Amino acid sequence: MSTEKLNKKKTIDLRKKHIGPSCKIFFSHDPIKIIQAKGQYMYDETGQRYLDCINNVAHVGHCHPDVVKAGAQQMEQLNTNTRFLHDNLVLYAQKLQATLPDKLSVCYFVNSGSEANDLALRLARQYSGHKDIITLENAYHGHISSLIDISPYKFHQLSDAELNPFVHVAPSPDVYRGKYRADHFDPATAYADEVKDIIEKVHKKGGKIAAFIAESLQSCGGQVIPPAGYFQHVAEHVHKAGGLFIADEVQVGFGRVGTNFWAFQLQGEDFVPDIVTMGKPIGNGHPMSCVVTTKEVAEAFMSSGMEYFNTFGGNPVSCAIGLAVLDVIVKEDLQGNALRVGQHLTDLLEKQKEKHPLIGDIRGCGLFVGVELVRDRLTLTPATAEAQEVIYKLKEQHILLSADGPHRNVLKFKPPLCFTTEDAELVVEKIDLILTELEEALKLHDAPNVENESSKRKLPTDENGHQYGLIHSRGSSQGVSQQTTQNKRLKT
Ligand SMILES: Cc1ncc(COP(=O)(O)O)c(C=O)c1O
Repeated sequence: MSTEKLNKKKTIDLRKKHIGPSCKIFFSHDPIKIIQAKGQYMYDETGQRYLDCINNVAHVGHCHPDVVKAGAQQMEQLNTNTRFLHDNLVLYAQKLQATLPDKLSVCYFVNSGSEANDLALRLARQYSGHKDIITLENAYHGHISSLIDISPYKFHQLSDAELNPFVHVAPSPDVYRGKYRADHFDPATAYADEVKDIIEKVHKKGGKIAAFIAESLQSCGGQVIPPAGYFQHVAEHVHKAGGLFIADEVQVGFGRVGTNFWAFQLQGEDFVPDIVTMGKPIGNGHPMSCVVTTKEVAEAFMSSGMEYFNTFGGNPVSCAIGLAVLDVIVKEDLQGNALRVGQHLTDLLEKQKEKHPLIGDIRGCGLFVGVELVRDRLTLTPATAEAQEVIYKLKEQHILLSADGPHRNVLKFKPPLCFTTEDAELVVEKIDLILTELEEALKLHDAPNVENESSKRKLPTDENGHQYGLIHSRGSSQGVSQQTTQNKRLKT
């Protein structure tokens, strides 16, 4: 076990002094100091083990020895930029491409999800000669200026004057809480028609669509699974307008969804985006990312005559690490594990839904699962404070989970893919106990023995706003209440 360099108080003091205050920390009233990690576990300075249910960066497991070794060995030999020939770059591009449909054959290696999405916007604008971008409600695509512009998750905090006039927001294809729900006869077409309407409005004003961008499954937006067929319809409208479809796989790619390697493939084999962006899991913690696109888009980018140079993107060390990650996914059948353990987790959670009225919806694919907590299954009043309470209570029991979505009431599971059935059972058992206690405090009774009808009813418009009722439970809720009222967002 490695030891800490400073005592915890000193670490906190130095952080307060030298690190920008907008860099938030989990559990700010009692932050965790992590000094070591392995597999799906993290360890604090006292050696206390935490089960990590949220870290989709440590995709194949924290500090996986094969990945660490690949990086260290290449660092001992050479690290430089892509202006020299190197086998790691081309071997990695070839191996990554083999996971994608043939049409997506050209890679640009960059260093973060934000860089990938920014480059994707550049590619789309250069290819189309257009400027306007359509994004989804509650989307988050990165922290740099061009991406705050297309991230309602962040820009809803800005004034109208700061909004980018070339950015247009389509409804989130959320069939639980969104505009068209599970009872709609064809939510995929209905949501895609909303995009079509936006395109028509943009055209009327003299604008032209460069791209539609969406996560293949919305993560920060509340673990939303778009109805199958939605992307095909959207792509049809966007292509007709001369624009491109960008699939952001920064959170959800690399086998997490279990049935497929890429989450966009859940839409069906007949759907292929024009650009795919990758990040987080690609390097298992090493900062690297990638944009993959078609030959045509790459050639259009080239035709501008401007060289694309990236000091670190695609360096031999990053590529060695990327190769090792792909190898481990196959060697340890982590995509298969995501499918099996994810299904077990979802089954266990479904049973909890029968028992706990606070659980409104369970949705997910593989090890990407959301549990939406509601105060009332008919009105769908978000149980925001309760979700925060669950997170804090789990932390006390050394389990790390987070809550997100526009109302911060969706418990997000996105653990390293080495998560086991025993891990799933443990966390669900703890959630069961916490919800029982919360429901007793709220005087909620057993869930009716009928299927949840809430998604089949229309929500009055004023119900869709932010409602942050506070619970007054014992113990750790002080910090919770404070955080909740301020609606502080801590994205993971
Ligand atoms: C969907 C999505 N896209 C892009 C990004 C930006 O990635 P990065 O933080 O590596 O710049 C994030 C980060 O959370 C993300 O969730």
